Amino acid sequence: HTRYTGLIDRYRDRLPVSPTARVISLVEGNTPMIELQNIPRMIGKDVKIYVKFEGLNPTGSFKDRGMTMAITKAVEEGSKAVICASTGNTSASAAAYAARAGIKAFVLIPDGKIALGKLAQTLMYNATIIQINGNFDDGMRLVKEVAELAPVTIVNSINPFRLEGQKTAAFEIVDDLGTAPDYHCLPVGNAGNISAYWKGYKEYSTDSATHKAVTNKRPVMCGYQAAGAAPFVAGHPIDNPETVATAIRIGRPQSWDFAIAAQQESGGWFDKFTDDEILAAQKLLSQYEGIFCEPASATSIAGALRDIKSGKIPEGSTIVCTLTGNGIKDPDIAIKQCADAKPITIDADLDAVKRAILDCL
Ligand code: F0G
Repeated sequence: HTRYTGLIDRYRDRLPVSPTARVISLVEGNTPMIELQNIPRMIGKDVKIYVKFEGLNPTGSFKDRGMTMAITKAVEEGSKAVICASTGNTSASAAAYAARAGIKAFVLIPDGKIALGKLAQTLMYNATIIQINGNFDDGMRLVKEVAELAPVTIVNSINPFRLEGQKTAAFEIVDDLGTAPDYHCLPVGNAGNISAYWKGYKEYSTDSATHKAVTNKRPVMCGYQAAGAAPFVAGHPIDNPETVATAIRIGRPQSWDFAIAAQQESGGWFDKFTDDEILAAQKLLSQYEGIFCEPASATSIAGALRDIKSGKIPEGSTIVCTLTGNGIKDPDIAIKQCADAKPITIDADLDAVKRAILDCL
C-alpha cells in the first residue's frame, strides 16, 4: 500500500528534483476527472467531455502543481523569500507553500481587482501583500525588475520549475484515460498553463533515454480567452485588459512563444468569449452538473461548447476541459450571478416551511 503524497513523489522520475531535496508539498495534484453527464445530452451532441477539476487542489487552483516545484527548488537553492505578481491564485499558492517551507512570500496584486477568497487566503497564509495602482502586467514587469535588486526568487511561471510541476496534469489525464484526449480546452491568461500541458503531453508521447512513450497520441490544444483580454486572438499584446474573469485579466502574457508553439504544433486554435458567455458557462456547469468553478475556468467550457456546437470539434470526440480554479474563490461574482434566486425568508414555523416547499414544487 502506498499513500498518495503529492505530484513530486508520484512523478519524481520525470521532474528535475534531486534525490536529497526537501520536498515542499501540500499533497497537491491527483485531481478528479469528472465526466459531464447532463450538458452533452442538453446540446444533443455525441461527445465525451471530462473536466479536470483543478479547483480541488490544496489552495483551490492549478497553481499548486507549479508551486510545489518552485518552492521546493527555491528552498534547495537557499532562498529565504519568494515574490510573484498575481491576479490572485498564484499569490495564494505562493503564500501557502512559503508558509509550509518557513520562508517569506511577497505578492504584488492589482489594486481592487482580485477575488475576495483569494485575498482572504493570501492574508491567512501570512504573505506580505503589495497592492499596486496598476494591472497584472505592470506587476509582472516590477517583479522582474525588483528581483535584480533584492534577494527574492520569482515564482511566477517565468520560473521554469513552475511549468515542470504543471505539466503533471497532462500526465494524470493520460494515466486516467489510458491515452490523450482528442481535444484539450483551457483558459489562457499569462499562458504558462497551456505551455505546461503541451510539454507534458509531448513528454508522455516521446521515447527518451529514460522512458518509453506512454501513448502515441497528443491532443489538439484549444486556448480560450476573455474578449477584453485576448492578446492571442489579436496576435499581439494588448494594453488595458478588462474582464469579469479577473484571473485572466492579462494583456502581455509571459509565455507567448511557448503558447504559440502549443497551438501550432498541436493544430489547435485560440478564441475569445464575452464576459456574458463566460458567466453563462459558469452557471450552466454549476446548475446542470453540480460543479462550481471560478469565472476564468468556465472559459474552457464556453469554448468547448461553442466549438462542439459548430462542429469544429466533431462528434465522437473526447474532450478534456481544465477547470483551473474553485468557484468559492469568487463569492461576489457567484452571488451576483444568482441575484434572482434570493433566499426565501419565513417564520421559524413548521407550517411556513411546508408552505415554502409546496410553493416551489
Ligand atoms: N485560470 C485561473 C483560475 C487562473 O488563476 C489563471 C492564471 C489562469 C486560468 C490562466 O493561466 O496564466 O497559465 O495562462 N492566474 C495567474 C495568477 C495569472 O496570478 O493567479 P495561465
